[in-house]
Amino acid sequence: MSTSSSALPSLSVSPAPVALPLSEAAEAASATAHPTRTRFMSDATNLPNAPEVARSSVLSPSSSTPETAEVKGYDFNNGIDYEAMLKAYATTGFQATNLAKAIDQVNAMLKWRLSDEPVDDDETEDYTDPEVRARTRCKIFLGYTSNLVSSGLRETLRYLVEHRMVDVVVSTAGGIEEDFISCLAPSYLGDFALKGKTLRDAGLNRIGNLLVPNNNYCAFQDWIFPILDAMVEEQKTHGVVWSPSKMIHRLGKEINDERSIYYWAYKNNIPVFSPALTDGSIGDMIYFHSYENPGLVLDIASDIRRMNNQAVFAKKTGAVIFGGGLIKHHILNANLMRNGLDYCVLVNTAAEFDGSDAGARPDESISWGKIRANADPVKVYAEATLVVPLLVAETFAKNFEPKTEPIPEDDEDF
Ligand SMILES: NC(=O)c1ccc[n+]([C@@H]2O[C@H](COP(=O)([O-])OP(=O)(O)OC[C@H]3O[C@@H](n4cnc5c(N)ncnc54)[C@H](O)[C@@H]3O)[C@@H](O)[C@H]2O)c1
Repeated sequence: MSTSSSALPSLSVSPAPVALPLSEAAEAASATAHPTRTRFMSDATNLPNAPEVARSSVLSPSSSTPETAEVKGYDFNNGIDYEAMLKAYATTGFQATNLAKAIDQVNAMLKWRLSDEPVDDDETEDYTDPEVRARTRCKIFLGYTSNLVSSGLRETLRYLVEHRMVDVVVSTAGGIEEDFISCLAPSYLGDFALKGKTLRDAGLNRIGNLLVPNNNYCAFQDWIFPILDAMVEEQKTHGVVWSPSKMIHRLGKEINDERSIYYWAYKNNIPVFSPALTDGSIGDMIYFHSYENPGLVLDIASDIRRMNNQAVFAKKTGAVIFGGGLIKHHILNANLMRNGLDYCVLVNTAAEFDGSDAGARPDESISWGKIRANADPVKVYAEATLVVPLLVAETFAKNFEPKTEPIPEDDEDF
C-alpha cells in the first residue's frame, strides 16, 4: 500500500525536497554545453503563430538543469572492451546504473579498514594498535538463494569462499545440499517449457531450465546417511549439540572436494547459517534417517546467537545478497543487533508493491534499523545469473587484497 505524506500527520516525516538547485555558473556552463537545448529554447520563443497554450505547455524552459552526470552509453566504435563497457554502465541509466553503484558499494566494503577512522574514546585496547586497525576489515555477509547453487553461479560463490573474500554465509537448505549433490553427480541444462508430467515419469526434477535427475538424490542419501549416523552417535556419547551451522561445517569436512563451497567454508572456518535447513532434501534425509536411527537434534537457538554475534562484534559490516526471502532477512536482522549494516548490495527480482520482505527496498530496512541511515545501499533489480559474475569481476576478483593473517579459530559460539 502506498502512503501519501499527508496520511502521516503525526509522524515527523517530511518528504525530501525534490528540486535540484543549480549554481549560476553551472546553469551558464550547462546552457553553452548543450547547443540543442539552447536551440530548443530559442525555437520556443520564435513560434509567434503557434497557440500560446501549446507553446507554453510543451516548450516551457526548465528552471534548472541537474548537476548529475550526463546519460551516455558505451560506443562499440571503440572496439569490444568489456571493462570499458561495464564502466559505461554508470551513465547508461536504469539497472545498468544500479549495477555500477553496486560495484562501487562492494569496492567500498573491500577498501575499508578500521585505520581509516579515528580511534573511538571508548575503544578497547586491542583496537588501538595501529597494525591491528590497519588489518581490521569490513565483515562481509554473503547471502544467496538455493537456486543459485543449482545454477552455474555455484562456481562464483565457491570462489568467494575459497579465497576468504567473505566472512559469513547464509543460504537456504537447497543452497547447502545442491553444493554437495553437485560433487556426487551433475545436473543438466533443460528448458523452462519441459512438461512436468513427462519429467516426473522420467525421474527428472526441473529447477527453471535446469534438470536434476532423481538418481542424484539417491547418491546424496548414500553419502549423507553414514554422516547422520556418526552425528547421532557423537550427540549421544559425547554430548555434541548439533546446530545447522555445525552440521554444514561437518558436511564440508566430509565432502573433501575442492569444487564444493562448503569444503572451503570448512577449510577457512567461515560460518554458514541456514536456519531452515530442513526445508529441502536435507530435511527429507533427516526424516528418513529418523526411522533408521532416531534421536538427532538440531539446535537453532545456538545458531541465532552465533549469527547475531557475527554482526554485534564487528567494527563495520557489509552485505552482498543475491535473491530474497530468508537469506536476505536473516542477514539484515542480524545487523539490526548493531543498529544496521554500513554497506549493502541487493540483487533480486522482487518488487515491493506486495509488502513482501523479499521485495522491500533498502530504505524499508533503514526504517527498521537493519541498514544504517547514513549508508548508501543499492538494490539492483535483476536476475542474479546475469549480473553476479559481472559484479564479482569488477570487485572481489579485481580488488580483493588477499588475507595474510591465519585462518580464524572457532568463535566462542561455535
Ligand atoms: N534449488 C532450489 O531452488 C531448491 C532446492 C531445494 C529446496 N529449496 C527450498 O525452497 C525454499 C525457497 O527457496 P529460497 O528461499 O532459497 O528462495 P526462492 O527461490 O523462494 O526465492 C526467493 C526470492 O529471491 C529472489 N530470487 C530468486 N532467484 C533469483 C534470481 N535468480 N535472481 C534474482 N532474484 C532471485 C526472488 O525475488 C524470489 O522471490 C527454501 O526453503 C529452499 O531450501 C530450493
